[in-house]
Parts: sequence; structure tokens; C-alpha cells
Amino acid sequence: MHTRCKAIKPIFRQLKEVAGRSMPLLMVLLVVLLLSWNRGVQQEPWLAPAEADSLRNPQGCEKGDMAAGRKIFEKICWTCHGFDGSGNGPAALNMKQKPANLAHEKTQNQSDGALYWKISNGRGEMAPFKQTLSVRQRWQLVCYLRELATVKDESKR
Ligand code: HEC
Repeated sequence: MHTRCKAIKPIFRQLKEVAGRSMPLLMVLLVVLLLSWNRGVQQEPWLAPAEADSLRNPQGCEKGDMAAGRKIFEKICWTCHGFDGSGNGPAALNMKQKPANLAHEKTQNQSDGALYWKISNGRGEMAPFKQTLSVRQRWQLVCYLRELATVKDESKR
């Protein structure tokens, strides 16, 4: 028993040395891995499934719907997306994946159905709202999102 211990000790010391020397390298590798994983997973463009394009707003967008959508937006969504939809809400400060600028054409070029689908299903830090908001409320938000684009254009003039 005693002699076996003696034989193992130097091996153990050597192992510790090797581990100690490569530890910084391992840490660097880990950080690089984590960073690239983040990039790969989070920054892929968010696409709604093609069938979302055929979803239709059953009520259409009446004036009252924009106002209702705005109310919901200024209660829930502004914390991340900002009041103007530009993505500069207070909760966005320490988020890895920045909230989309909803007034931008990248968002505005998507179909109503796609936006409705995204609000319903969420992704990452954006929660899915299909349990907390009714169908009607989610369409009202889509109506209001279209107004955000107009607001942006007017401020450019
Ligand atoms: C906790 C923060 C947060 C809240 C609250 C939030 N969002 Fe988002 N939203 C995000 C983030 C982050 C993204 C980008 C997600 C991604 O690309 O993975 C996003 C993306 C979106 C998109 C997709 C834009 C595009 O161009 O693809 C829409 C539409 C949207 N949000 C609408 C809303 C609406 C409407 C509400 C309120 C009901 C809301 N969001 C509440 C964080 C939030």
C-alpha cells in the first residue's frame, strides 16, 4: 500500500502541473466557445414560418384598434422596444440580443401575419404573448406597429 502511494504521488504532481499550465488556455477556449455559441444561436435572423403570412386580421384596423394597440404597447412592450419602437427601452440596456427596432423596414416589410405570429410565439428574451393577450389584442398591436412606421417617417421630414 505504502509503496503504491509513493509511486502515484509523482504522477499526480505531474498531472497537476499540466492542468495548471493549460488552465489559462482552457479558460480562453471556453470563453471563445461561449461567445461563438451566443452569436450562432441568438443572432440568426428571426423568421416566422411561411404559413404565418396567410394569417388574416379578422377585424381589420379601425382607428379604435390603433389606440387600443398603443395602450397595450405602452404598458408592456415599451420596456424593451421603447415608446417609439426603436428598441431603446430601459430593459434593453443589459440584454444580449437587442430588441428589434419595430419602426424599421426590416420589421415593417414583414406581413401582418408574421408580426402577429412573432408577438404570439416570442423568441429568446421576448416572451410569447399568446397566453397573456387575446387574439384581438395581438392584432391590435399589429395595427399599432404599422403606425410606428408612420411616426418614424414623419420625424424624418
Ligand atoms: C423583455 C423584452 C421585450 C418585451 C417586453 C417585448 N419584446 Fe418584442 N422583442 C424583444 C427582442 C429581444 C426581440 C428580438 C428577438 C430576436 O430576434 O430573437 C423582439 C422582437 C420583436 C418583434 C419582431 C421584429 C422583427 O423584425 O422580427 C416584434 C414584432 C415584437 N418584438 C413586438 C413586441 C410587442 C408587440 C411587444 C409587447 C406585447 C413586445 N415585443 C414586447 C424583446 C421584447
